Amino acid sequence: MSMEGIEGARIALAFSGGLDTSVMIKWLQEKYHAEIVTVSGHLGQEKELRDIKEKAYALGAVAAHEVDLREEFVSDFAFRALKAGALYEGAYPLATALGRPLLAKTLIEVAQQEQCTVVAHGCTGKGNDQVRFEASVWALAPELRVIAPVRHWEFRSREQEIAYCQERGIPVTATKASPYSIDENIWGTSIECGVLEDPTVAPPEDAYQRTLSPEDAPDTATTVVISFERGVPVMVNHERLSPFELVKKANHLAGTNGIGRIDLIENRLVGIKSREIYEAPGATILHFAHRELERLTLDKLSMRFNERVASEYADLIYNGLWYSPLRSALDAFVDETQTNVTGEITLQLYKGTVKVLSRSSAFSLYDKALASYSEEDSFDHRAGEGFSKIFSLPLRTIARSKQASLYQS
Ligand code: ARG
Repeated sequence: MSMEGIEGARIALAFSGGLDTSVMIKWLQEKYHAEIVTVSGHLGQEKELRDIKEKAYALGAVAAHEVDLREEFVSDFAFRALKAGALYEGAYPLATALGRPLLAKTLIEVAQQEQCTVVAHGCTGKGNDQVRFEASVWALAPELRVIAPVRHWEFRSREQEIAYCQERGIPVTATKASPYSIDENIWGTSIECGVLEDPTVAPPEDAYQRTLSPEDAPDTATTVVISFERGVPVMVNHERLSPFELVKKANHLAGTNGIGRIDLIENRLVGIKSREIYEAPGATILHFAHRELERLTLDKLSMRFNERVASEYADLIYNGLWYSPLRSALDAFVDETQTNVTGEITLQLYKGTVKVLSRSSAFSLYDKALASYSEEDSFDHRAGEGFSKIFSLPLRTIARSKQASLYQS
């Protein structure tokens, strides 16, 4: 997709307030005489969104929209992934990947309301996020044109972008340039670039934004009770919280105990392997607790099938296919399996580790009378003989056949 034919267009731009998208406002106006409408979504990121509308207007935007997506993001995106047990390549809780479809949907809503025919985003040409944005936009509004100026413009470095701003008297916020590229929301932080590009090098402490290192975490453990209803966490320490507030609390409890740091070599959609550091303290303990509750309440066959769905679901999110019919179909499966995933998990958080202390549920499938080795044991031991015999029958048949062929030769 080129940048041709956008002369004089009215463009809705996903605006984070960072350097790239700030330069973009000016660049699109200058080069294409475009009218820029900015759209900034709050997903619980702490940085950058302060005075975002003022910033957009100062750069010449004709309209600036700021949308609070925090509760929707957690309840309709992050918690769906949690229920499904979705961790990309078994590790990444998908914070960045989950944010894109919601930001894209919001961008489209504003574009339609503001009569924009083009939407723009700040993603590069070699990442996953461009695909997530574009697949989401076209799944919801195929008539819109999508542009990604970073794929086309002349700037090769941050310094060149800053020089462009200075030449035009644009105030670039004098924040010291971080050596990392960071994407953040309430579900987690993604950190890459700089020294992290060398997979032989351990991440320096300054790469981490929101967790204590396990070494610096308190010497006394923290106990926390998480209550779930149908696979969704609803209370922390018996206090009922909104989805967003609950994750915020979980982030705090886990982050101060040094939990949730993930150092991952992952397979990107565009065919390369990349190294990313993630911090997802709350997501880490919530996934852990959710899984513990499933161990107690799900039957074995559902558990086995769940694992396959979890991996498909994670790939689907990672690959930008949130608005696909398959996602709705998988959601139906997940929701059905979560019917009885209601109960309480008590965790212990200690120096970067999380362990389960106790689990309980009205739907528990753990039957002490069946499991016990004490006098209350109700298991039919004698039936074990026939079971074991039939279960191993194929192996016995093979062994006998081998023996027979041995005699023959
Ligand atoms: N690798 C992650 C993903 O594809 C995060 C991408 C953005 N990372 C960043 N540091 N800006 O979802």
